[in-house]
Amino acid sequence: MTTTMEQFPELNTDRLKLRKLVPEDIPALVRYADNRKISDNIINIPYPYREPDAVFRISYVVQGFRKKTLYVFAIILKKSGEFIGEASLHIENGNKAQLGYWVGEPFWNKGIATEATKAILKFGLEELNLHEIYATAHIRNIASEKVLLHNGLKKENVNGNVALYRITKQEYK
Ligand SMILES: CC(C)(COP(=O)(O)OP(=O)(O)OC[C@H]1O[C@@H](n2cnc3c(N)ncnc32)[C@H](O)[C@@H]1OP(=O)(O)O)[C@@H](O)C(=O)NCCC(=O)NCCS
Repeated sequence: MTTTMEQFPELNTDRLKLRKLVPEDIPALVRYADNRKISDNIINIPYPYREPDAVFRISYVVQGFRKKTLYVFAIILKKSGEFIGEASLHIENGNKAQLGYWVGEPFWNKGIATEATKAILKFGLEELNLHEIYATAHIRNIASEKVLLHNGLKKENVNGNVALYRITKQEYK
């Protein structure tokens, strides 16, 4: 991985590669993001989700990386090379970030989001040297809560239908 961050970083886990989103990912991005179960939980994913949405997303992601405010990783299944979802860090105030992720429905309940999140936390807290990473999820989003708790985030509070989870660099160590 480059530490100067001139190039988009690449993260590797047992089953996954997390890398820059590229135009070749568009068909799979559209196939999996065009799902209400995804768009209902992810603020920047509209429904229905079509090719122009994916094209726009790639330029949004590239600009975010240039500004160092957004790291959206494509989640790639190593064994097939296929795009199956996204995991992201949205940087706030330089040292805090919001974590987000989604996985295509055919790949749910295989530990993919848990594995991707582990890599993202390491990247954010060790490479970017963030002080804190947090995530919010609907209180009924049990799968997301499990992903976050498995990765050491703590449930901080519930505000209406939204739960807030957080981990600090100190706790991560
Ligand atoms: C949330 C999401 C990313 C999880 O992805 P995933 O790869 O299936 O997650 P994992 O397999 O790593 O973990 C899911 C866990 O939730 C559990 N789970 C899934 N659905 C569940 C349900 N309805 N009730 C209870 N547990 C459930 C799984 O058994 C697993 O638990 P385990 O690891 O203890 O066995 C995926 O469901 C998704 O993309 N949802 C839509 C977008 C979204 O909600 N993103 C998060 C926004 S905060």
